[in-house]
Amino acid sequence: MTNRTFTMIKPDAMKNGHAGAILDKIIKSGFRIVALKQTKLTEEKAGEFYAVHKARPFYGELVEFMSSGVIIAAILEKDNAVADFRTLIGATDPSKADEGTIRKLFATSVGENAVHGSDSDENAKIEGDFFFSGLEQF
Ligand code: TYD
Repeated sequence: MTNRTFTMIKPDAMKNGHAGAILDKIIKSGFRIVALKQTKLTEEKAGEFYAVHKARPFYGELVEFMSSGVIIAAILEKDNAVADFRTLIGATDPSKADEGTIRKLFATSVGENAVHGSDSDENAKIEGDFFFSGLEQF
């Protein structure tokens, strides 16, 4: 079934000059761009986006990192988008990610792991709507 997922190219990948290569890989893997923008999260907005991780020990660092530089946010569409995108990006920890995955190729560490990918259809919708109005989603 065709559905949508949400991604961010995180500040490490932006600073390291990988945005173009990552977008190329995403498009060549069959994802259609529904919406896309470059933006920068405030600490408050990053904290809100990752609120589910509030109690985790890495939350403070995650919020600081995600607000440390510009990001690219995008909504993507494809058959089986959420699961296929998780496969394309690889494991959270890049040292454990499969060969050829975006995190294996472009991530620095578990904390600075190049890309975000939604973990469910429900979260994909919530996360996409966090960044884009209905008029920006085609
Ligand atoms: P999580 O949702 O577990 O991973 P994923 O991004 O693969 O869905 O965690 C969210 C982010 O939190 C993760 O991308 C990077 C950060 N994080 C850490 O910094 N340290 C950790 O030990 C974990 C599990 C996550």
